[in-house]
Amino acid sequence: MNSTLISVRGATKAYPMGASRLEVLRGIDVDITAGEAVCIVGSSGAGKSTLLHVMGTLDKPTLGKVFFKGVDLTRESDEKLAEFRNRSMGFVFQFHHLMAEFTALENAMMPCRIGGLSLAESKEKAARLLELMGLSARAAHYPSELSGGEQQRVAIARALVRDPEVLFADEPTGNLDTVNAAKIQDLFFELKEKLNLTLVVVTHDLGFAQKFPKVLRMRDGLWAT
Ligand SMILES: Nc1ncnc2c1ncn2[C@@H]1O[C@H](COP(=O)(O)OP(=O)(O)OP(=O)(O)O)[C@@H](O)[C@H]1O
Ligand SMILES: [Mg+2]
Repeated sequence: MNSTLISVRGATKAYPMGASRLEVLRGIDVDITAGEAVCIVGSSGAGKSTLLHVMGTLDKPTLGKVFFKGVDLTRESDEKLAEFRNRSMGFVFQFHHLMAEFTALENAMMPCRIGGLSLAESKEKAARLLELMGLSARAAHYPSELSGGEQQRVAIARALVRDPEVLFADEPTGNLDTVNAAKIQDLFFELKEKLNLTLVVVTHDLGFAQKFPKVLRMRDGLWAT
């Protein structure tokens, strides 16, 4: 049965710019069904990252609502949302944002520790994810001791370590060479199947976009028709 995981209704995002306002989202609706893989494309400045951040509660819409399984997230406190994201949402960005002073394993276990899991359980979960990423042999490496593709795979392990329901990725392969980008792209779909994930990915890479069963195109803060 298909059930709606995330619904965005009438989302606008506007920034005051001197005397005027810049409208980055102009009344967007979108429904993401549990288990689907959705790609969002559109030219630079169209509002893709802003929409992803709004869907993922990293940013609040100026107007409009974001529902997760029918619950209105725009009414929740920042503290509740941080807890909710830690538990239910994973994020991967163009840059890995790993912490340089921590090993791959320590980076991957960070969300578990933040979420209050014991050190032993956090280690066990992170080790399992690193194994799934083919990185067991790199667990003790610091980010500077990893290749670009490996760094991004650690970032993916960290995003998935708490078994989130949805994985958001913003240009996740934009920083990699073609070979590594293709590997990571395929990994996303493998992980989706293995972990029963919902995937929402923003990319400029049309080859990557073509691998998705559903592609949504944005233009100037709205869906392009
Ligand atoms: N804090 C802010 N204040 C003012 N304008 C902003 C702010 N954040 C984003 N913008 C503007 O909003 C527009 C949409 O930005 P967004 O990052 O969502 O675009 P994008 O579609 O992800 O583009 P890209 O493909 O280049 O990443 C841009 O024109 C940007 O300059
Ligand atoms: Mg962007």
